[in-house]
Amino acid sequence: MKVKIHRLFEYLLETTQAAPEAIVGFSLSGAPVLGDYLAELDPNQSLDWNNRDFRGLPELRNHVLAQAGLDRLCTPQDVLITAGAAEANYLSVMQLLQPGDEIVIETPGWPQAEVLARAIGAEVVKVTRREADGWRLPLDQMADAVSSKTKLIFISNPNNPTGDLLGRSDLEELVRIAERAGAWLLVDEVYAGLEWDAPRAPSVAGLYARGITTGSVSKALGLQGLRTGWLICRDADLVMDAVIRRENSSEIMNIMGEVIAEIALRPDRYPQAMQKARREGAANLAEMNTWIAGQEGLSWVAPRAGLIGLGRLPEGIDSDAFAKFLLADPYRTFLLPGSAYGQPGHIRLGVGGGASVNLSKGLERVALALKDWPVGKLR
Ligand SMILES: Cc1ncc(COP(=O)(O)O)c(C=O)c1O
Repeated sequence: MKVKIHRLFEYLLETTQAAPEAIVGFSLSGAPVLGDYLAELDPNQSLDWNNRDFRGLPELRNHVLAQAGLDRLCTPQDVLITAGAAEANYLSVMQLLQPGDEIVIETPGWPQAEVLARAIGAEVVKVTRREADGWRLPLDQMADAVSSKTKLIFISNPNNPTGDLLGRSDLEELVRIAERAGAWLLVDEVYAGLEWDAPRAPSVAGLYARGITTGSVSKALGLQGLRTGWLICRDADLVMDAVIRRENSSEIMNIMGEVIAEIALRPDRYPQAMQKARREGAANLAEMNTWIAGQEGLSWVAPRAGLIGLGRLPEGIDSDAFAKFLLADPYRTFLLPGSAYGQPGHIRLGVGGGASVNLSKGLERVALALKDWPVGKLR
């Protein structure tokens, strides 16, 4: 079946040409530039594919396991390099789900699994995270939602968009829930490494034979344009199925993405890059928290991890109308409406993007737009 557009992507398409002066809602660290890697790049690097392995550069796959703390639990054969976490999710969902199969997902959550599942003709079962519970994933409801009909459970940890974080014991409980049903459990950890009040959560590929970990260099390292991510799973057939599906989409890895990601994840670079990302993220989050505390009627559950969270708008303001109002003159500030996540009373607030997004200016403009918001405006 045809893949239908989701509101999140639709909004990005509608606003691509808007040229905002500030962005409040960036989900990734400021992007490095090519010059940061030039000294370690080989001018004779062939621009053919890597010519060594259909799963990706072996050194890169070793670094991927190391950053996830999986080097003792998984082998490089369990790792497939993909075009971002998006392709890793795509390959998993498309190979695992058949029409009529059930998939259990969280809401609010990253929409990709739902969009693909609907295109396949699978049944989508949603488990709701509630703001009143700090957007926690209700594991008791997850247990009720999962049955012998469940083929796949899909969540993001840290969660996009709320920044909630499941720790080890929660993940172990989730594994028990999946195991009882014989279901696959995919945990998208694209935001991992930016945890603010707890250690990084263990990767599910190390906890469960049917656990699939997906991730990438896009978020904490800000390298989304490399389109380089991964899928990790100890089930050899699952990985091979993904290799076969990928042969029919992007076919092989992007060599420059692999080479630069390999440099970025080297043990002599990665810890410093993460320290910088954490320092900048923490400083911007502190600014955001102070700013929100000073805004009448606006509140949020601060993210426990990652660079984004959902801000609750003052009563009666519709997120779509507000996001468009804010993007127009004189505010010219971009943010994602909560409608992109089925939360029309919220906006997605984020603190990533580095200096180029003009966060402080953006926050001033959001405050102004809230003040100017026409009372009684048609929603
Ligand atoms: C939860 C989640 N998964 C996957 C992706 C896609 O990331 P990538 O750039 O690694 O494909 C995103 C991007 O926003 C995301 O938020």
